[in-house]
This record gives sequence, C-alpha cells and structure tokens, in this order.
Amino acid sequence: MVRALLLESLHPQASTILAGAGVTPVEHRGALDEDELVAALAGVAVLGIRSKTQVTERVLAHAPDLQAVGAFCIGTNQVDLEAAAARGIPVFNAPFSNTRSVVELAIAEIIALTRRLTVKDTTLHAGVWDKSSEGSHEVRGRTLGIVGYGNIGSQLSVVAEALGMSVLYYDTAEKLALGNARRAPDLESLLRHSDVVTLHVDGRSGNAGFFGVEQLSAMREGAIFLNLSRGFVLDHDALADALARGHLSGAAVDVFPHEPKARGDAFTSPLRGLPNVILTPHIGGSTEEAQEDIGRFVATKLRDYLRTGSTSLSVNLPAVALDRVPGTARLAHLHHNVPGVLATVNSVLAEHGVNVDGQLLTTRGAYGYAVTDVGALTPAVLDALRAMPETVRLSVV
Ligand SMILES: NC(=O)c1ccc[n+]([C@@H]2O[C@H](COP(=O)([O-])OP(=O)(O)OC[C@H]3O[C@@H](n4cnc5c(N)ncnc54)[C@H](O)[C@@H]3O)[C@@H](O)[C@H]2O)c1
Repeated sequence: MVRALLLESLHPQASTILAGAGVTPVEHRGALDEDELVAALAGVAVLGIRSKTQVTERVLAHAPDLQAVGAFCIGTNQVDLEAAAARGIPVFNAPFSNTRSVVELAIAEIIALTRRLTVKDTTLHAGVWDKSSEGSHEVRGRTLGIVGYGNIGSQLSVVAEALGMSVLYYDTAEKLALGNARRAPDLESLLRHSDVVTLHVDGRSGNAGFFGVEQLSAMREGAIFLNLSRGFVLDHDALADALARGHLSGAAVDVFPHEPKARGDAFTSPLRGLPNVILTPHIGGSTEEAQEDIGRFVATKLRDYLRTGSTSLSVNLPAVALDRVPGTARLAHLHHNVPGVLATVNSVLAEHGVNVDGQLLTTRGAYGYAVTDVGALTPAVLDALRAMPETVRLSVV
C-alpha cells in the first residue's frame, strides 16, 4: 500500500486525486515539528505540506520510504531542496495557480485608488456626505506601468488593456509584449509616463530595496503606486513620505518586509493610517479558487511521478517526461551527472539481454535523470544498476 501524509489542511482535491491513483491519504490539520514529522513519515511515500512544515535534512535522512514531496503553495524555502535531490526525492510546487487572483486584486485596487473609494467610504462611515468628483478618475485612457512582466505582470497587462488602460512595462529580461502593451526602454521612462505603477518583480536578492526614494520621486505627481510582489523590494518609509507629502495620491501594499507570523498578530508599518492607502495582509494569491488549483496542480504532479517517473516542473531534479511505450517496464534512474553513465546503464541492460524501447535523459546541475522503457526485467539487472557508484536512486514504475 502506498501512503501519503497530507499536512496543513490541504484542499480536498489533493486527497481525491491521490486516492484515485491508488494512494492512501492520511490527513492532518496542522503542521508537524521536526520530531513529529520524522515519526509520522515511517512507511510514507508522499508528503504534502504548505508553508509551515519544515522539511529539513534531518527529516529527509530519517524518511527512507519517502519518494516525493508536494509543497501545496508557491514557495519552497521550507524544504531543503538540495538534501531532497541528493536522495532522489523530487519536490513539486504550484508556481502559477494564484496568478489570476493577484491580477484581480491589483485591478480592484487600481480602480478603487483612482476613484478614491477608500477615502469616500471612510468619510461616509464617519457620517460625512462628501459628494464630489474632485481627484476621482476613470481608469480608461490612463497609463499603467508594470515593473516585472512575468506570469503576473503580463496577465495584468491583458486585463488592464481590456479596461481601456494603456500599458507600459519594464523587465530586466527580454519579454514579448502582449496586446498593445509597449516596452519602456528603462525604468525611469516607465515611471515618468505612468499614472499607476505596479511592482511584480521576483524575489531575487538583488531586488532588495530596489524601489526607494529615487524611483518614487521619479513617478508623476499624483500617481498611484502598488506593490503585490515582495515586501523587501520597497523602501516603505520612502513610500510613506511620498504619500504624506502628496507627491503620490494613493497606494496599495500587500507584502511587507517583516510580516506577522500568525493570524491575529499585531502589525506595524509607517503606511498605517494614511488616506487612500489600501493595506492587505499578503492575500494577493489567497482565494478559494487558487487553493483549489494548487491542490489539483501539485497532486497531479505527485500522481504522475508515482505512475510514470515524470519530474516535469519539479523544482529540484532534472525534468523528464516520456510517453510510455505500451507493455514495457520503466526504469527511473537518478544519478550523479558525470560522463558515461548512460553508456554504462545501456551496457548493463545489453549484457543482460534487455532491449531498450524508449529512453530520455536530462541533466540539472549535479544530477542526471534517465527514464528507460524496457522489456522484462530481472532482479540481477536491478542489482547491477543499483550497484553503479553513480546511482542515486533507481525505481521501477
Ligand atoms: N501577493 C501575493 O500573494 C503574491 C502571490 C503570488 C506571487 N507573488 C509575487 O509576485 C511576484 C511576481 O510573480 P510572478 O509569478 O509573475 O514571477 P515571474 O518570475 O514570472 O516574473 C517576475 C518578472 O520580474 C522580472 N524582474 C525581476 N527583477 C526585476 C527588476 N529589478 N526590474 C524589472 N523586472 C524584473 C523578471 O525578469 C520576471 O520577468 C513574485 O515576487 C512573487 O513572489 C505575490
């Protein structure tokens, strides 16, 4: 019986998909600490977690039955990816499942801020009837400047254009412009020409504090600023100052350099209490639709790995996906990436009279992964392949 341990209240899609593949899911509402996890992993082939469970080197060293890990979230910092790779354990996540959710929040905020909705709402709740059009605008015809034209930035571009916005983008990498969006030659030019500037850059270390006094000052007088990417990319004091001085007319911030750990914890920020500023507790990707898609996406990757050895979209192993030659056995061989391994594998097979019906090899850093469809296998073949000094893990799937 193949067992999966699913922690941190994963979406029901996860257990449904794994059970459909003959895996027995055991679910647990919360995260487990290191000792609890070591004990719980005995006899477990698949581990499903979210962001709170730490899968350390020690956990992996004490989990000889573990075959794959699913991080049912976007980030994978909670897993020791190198230690998992060294044991031939692929780790899968869901990098795109909440893209649309972030885009919709950004659109909602762009409209709300351009229309000064939060100010009107607060004033009316305070019992004051402030009917005026001053400072309120349509988004149609205004220019949106997108910094970081990746998954989220490019999808936002399409939706913003559908609302009649004109889109400029800036990305350090070469990116295809979608629709009528135009690439800005540099960040300064984008800032100078945009009514709304929104950050969607990734979390590489070089982006720490990259948007500060200089960039905020280069924005148009009265412009609006959004950050739904990473907290550490922005100088929050500089943003608070630009808003307080009236240089910017509004802002929305979803991510912070130091975010409270638990629901209900206190939150401090220089942005608190400023008018026409929307603050949200890192919920850009937090929708029920995104959770369902994460459950489906990661569970499907785990299922495919168990069934076919496919490591496609794994974050730590070479990616191989090979159509199965019908009626064959499949060898999934993770090995150290040194010259001659495939030749040795094939000569072992030939020496034992085993014909190769299909084969694919990919490498990634220190590891190579070869999937080979063959006719009948004998224990002697498997022993010979396992005995190769380059072999990290050999499975028959
Ligand atoms: N608020 C949330 O809940 C939430 C949810 C999902 C993702 N995110 C964050 O949103 C960001 C974007 O996600 P994504 O999936 O679109 O990432 P992505 O990797 O697809 O795109 C990031 C883009 O930014 C570009 N880039 C990096 N540094 C840059 C810089 N200094 N200037 C210009 N371009 C730069 C990259 O070349 C890339 O095209 C990430 O930081 C991610 O962590 C936040």
